[in-house]
Amino acid sequence: RMVMKKSQTIGIIVPDITNPFFATLVKGIEEVLFKSDFMSILCNVDTDDEKGIKALEALNHRGVDGLIVASSGVSMGELVKQEALKNIPVIELDRQSTSQIKDSIKTDDYLGGKLVANLLNNLEHHIVAVLFPESSSQNILKRLEGFSANFLGDVIYFATDLTKSSGKKRVSDILLTEATAIFAANDEIAFGVYAGLSDCGKKIPEDYSVVGYDDIEMSSYIYPPLTTVSQPIFELGQKTANTLIQRIEHPEMDETEIVLPVQLIQRLSVAHT
Ligand code: RIB
Repeated sequence: RMVMKKSQTIGIIVPDITNPFFATLVKGIEEVLFKSDFMSILCNVDTDDEKGIKALEALNHRGVDGLIVASSGVSMGELVKQEALKNIPVIELDRQSTSQIKDSIKTDDYLGGKLVANLLNNLEHHIVAVLFPESSSQNILKRLEGFSANFLGDVIYFATDLTKSSGKKRVSDILLTEATAIFAANDEIAFGVYAGLSDCGKKIPEDYSVVGYDDIEMSSYIYPPLTTVSQPIFELGQKTANTLIQRIEHPEMDETEIVLPVQLIQRLSVAHT
């Protein structure tokens, strides 16, 4: 194959950098890139397939040496359809890789969901409202699986985006149920739930226990501090960038598979029923 000159550039595709999860992730990625004389081009594509494909084309055009995709907005098949992208390494963070080389860096989502289930079992919650996106990426589905396989009571599902406004909107529906606890797929949704509950005069944790996921920095600063599952977000970014650079520099290396641990951080947003 033709030997191309490297551009020392990596494309990063995320849904939305205003979610601090992705801001921290990108900082972790960049820290490693800078040290290795790589630069990044960042694209926010929301959950919009069209935007995702446009971003891929544009990155392709600019001759990136590799790609990190952390967005559910680029549908599986699209990555492989991009002919030119077939020859560059891609790491997909939130789903099974569709590229030929399946380097994979994940956090233990099943365990994360299970830890939340165990906590709510111990606090004797019997009905939980669970707020998850309807078409979730694989990591979030694993999270949900870990939760539902281990929670002993009833689960009521509500579809949300991974945003504060979407979480807030769901509160009125939750109030119509018998749920005593709310498990949000990420901290951003949980923040929206805080606002929605407060608007309706409901108290956390007296009226509802609330659990988030990610442990973004803000989670320990809001009141009451949010119980959540901490993902090593910065490290996830670092490990991903490291693996990608290794892959670019040593195309023949063995496939990497890294699963980073998660941890339940119990704060004041949960209580016994
Ligand atoms: O907040 C963003 C969420 O989407 C995180 O939980 C992360 O794991 C990503 O998939």
